[in-house]
Amino acid sequence: MGRKSDSVASFEASPNIALVKYWGMRDVALGLPYNSSLSLTLNRFRTQTTVRWEPELLEDELSINGEAAHGSALASITTFLDRIRSRTHDSSRAIVRSRNNFPIASGLASSASGFAALAGAATLAAGLKLSVRELSALARLGSGSASRSIFGGFVEWRRGVRPDGRDCYAHPVEGVRSWSTLVDLVAIVRDAPVKSARSAEAMQRTVATSPYYAERLREVPARIASMRRAIHRRDSETLFPLIMEECDSFRRACETTAPSLDYLTATSRAILGAVHTLNATSGRPVAAYTHDAGAHVHVFALQNDVKLVRRSLRAVRGIDRVWALRAGPGAHPIAARVR
Ligand code: PMV
Repeated sequence: MGRKSDSVASFEASPNIALVKYWGMRDVALGLPYNSSLSLTLNRFRTQTTVRWEPELLEDELSINGEAAHGSALASITTFLDRIRSRTHDSSRAIVRSRNNFPIASGLASSASGFAALAGAATLAAGLKLSVRELSALARLGSGSASRSIFGGFVEWRRGVRPDGRDCYAHPVEGVRSWSTLVDLVAIVRDAPVKSARSAEAMQRTVATSPYYAERLREVPARIASMRRAIHRRDSETLFPLIMEECDSFRRACETTAPSLDYLTATSRAILGAVHTLNATSGRPVAAYTHDAGAHVHVFALQNDVKLVRRSLRAVRGIDRVWALRAGPGAHPIAARVR
């Protein structure tokens, strides 16, 4: 079955930074994680994706930042679009154009914003009417963290316990509309290597080989509960040490994976050191670092301390630029013509 005429829609989504990391799937086919995670969707960084369903097209086409993509990038998009084709019983192929205004494939969660925007644009253009929870569950099948980028601000992705995954979903953290004085200084590290292993494969290696993984899973629920309380109280002095403790736990799980996963560069490590030094000399938790599966480092601080933190980052060699981001909106449509 094919569409009689083309339908097109565009969606915009922002990446999120995980304060509690998703790392490991208990069910790969359904994208069900071993642990719940907690994140902040960011502003300023954006992916805009346009999907046009074309009945005459033989294969899906993908361009990222104006360049045609092939190989595994295109294959993962085709696999994702197949799920939509099977729901709509329409075999039309799609032209997907995606643009990012931030560095991609280097651990800045372009897959989160990418699959959130793709899920939104592809379903809207296909005329599917999904709730945000359904859209989030669909985005999850492209990239786990994309389930959280459907929502703005602080978002929790519950692991659930059911084998069918029906109790596994992301949702905004209740009762927290915004924390406007919270700033995420994203330090873009020069010479950050392009990501080699896909996170989805790397994390399953951790599950299979890290002797620390089981202990990490036991630690996470209490950490999420404490962070949720600290976020509700806007209590950075409690939240910031928890963010770093979690980041260190994630890194330890990666480092104890066989073969070991090391995402940081010397500059990234110097940033972690600079934050520890700043907090020690200030006598309070002024800042908190965290990173995902990449070399760039996110440093959280309250607005009043941003100058202080920027000054200590200036002393670190190898930082290309520092972006000041805050909480941002969830994925949303920007244009549509559905026939
Ligand atoms: O969503 P994926 O498959 O790209 O994996 C994300 C993994 C981390 O970014 C390291 C953690 C997270 O929760 O975002």
